Amino acid sequence: MKTYDIAVIGGDGIGVEIVREAIKSLDAAAKKEGFGLLYKEYLMGGAAIDATGEPLPKETLKGAKSADAVLFGAIGGTKWDNLPRNLRPETGLLALRKGLDAFANLRPVKVFDELIDASALKSEVVRGVDLLVVRELVGGIYFGEPRGRDKDRGWNTMAYNEAEIDRIGRVAFEAAMKRNKKVCSVDKANVLDVSQLWRDVVTNVAKEYPQVELTHMYIDNAAMQLVNNPRQFDVILTGNLFGDILSDEASMIGGSIGLLPSSSRGAKGGIFEPIHGSAPDIAGKGIANPLATILSAAMLCEFALQEIGAARRIENAVKKALALGYRTPDIAKFGALRQANTTEMGDIVAKLIAEG
Ligand code: IPM
Ligand code: MG
Repeated sequence: MKTYDIAVIGGDGIGVEIVREAIKSLDAAAKKEGFGLLYKEYLMGGAAIDATGEPLPKETLKGAKSADAVLFGAIGGTKWDNLPRNLRPETGLLALRKGLDAFANLRPVKVFDELIDASALKSEVVRGVDLLVVRELVGGIYFGEPRGRDKDRGWNTMAYNEAEIDRIGRVAFEAAMKRNKKVCSVDKANVLDVSQLWRDVVTNVAKEYPQVELTHMYIDNAAMQLVNNPRQFDVILTGNLFGDILSDEASMIGGSIGLLPSSSRGAKGGIFEPIHGSAPDIAGKGIANPLATILSAAMLCEFALQEIGAARRIENAVKKALALGYRTPDIAKFGALRQANTTEMGDIVAKLIAEG
């Protein structure tokens, strides 16, 4: 039996709770499809700082590098908020992304019909939305040098070189070829030099994909268009910071940030994580929505393991659980026939996979 190694990083806050539920779905899907999964758990973020003094211990990076994929929950919390930047939990995640060269962050945004009323936007605006944010993840202002902080001044650098833009651009066009053949590249080329280069390079990449329609949009306009008329988008291609902001905004189209999965592909495997954070306010209460992580596990099967059958089984079970009216508190107001806490939602999805 083919067996894959999965590095599991629960992290902090609700991270540990939701990853546990995603594993139930992975196991159920693997059993159905006839492959095996071997999990190894690693520390990162605040939990790692408490245990080892470092946000990304060496064993974690080593384990993540040698695994077939990384399943990750979330990191961060008020407890570590006042630490200097290089010791913050977030620095662990950034170092993991960089260490795996996980440069291509894919964040699909789909609206589940069952949850259409959960959206902050009108149902006629969001019905049928199906877009993909392709976010560059290991460059831009998150990593640019120089950066620093004095007592009365702080600074960062937003920089991209041609090769970095080219490779993420190709991911976006390849994705568009399998979708609706539209790429909207988002930048701030009316103000930023780095965005002017971005635009030139993306325009060049587009020449190799004549079937794909390329448009450019400024980030401020894109933020507005995303709530005004989200159906106009197919693939949104953008840099690290703009992609971070737009993907949180886009999560509101579908009703809850607890629903959006992501994959961060690198040289091998990749990191699969929900787009949301560690939600310290609800951590430990057992009420977090595990669906974003369960859907990330589906992406893990599809992109890292090429186990497409398992991916579809997990996605279908999530749809079915929603259709049956199971709702965690974040989406409870909309069509809830059965209230579910974190564990109950994880159990029902795994059960539906097993029965499917
Ligand atoms: C995300 C998160 C991270 C980011 C944080 C936790 C560093 O917001 O994955 O979107 O900014 O990339
Ligand atoms: Mg974010």
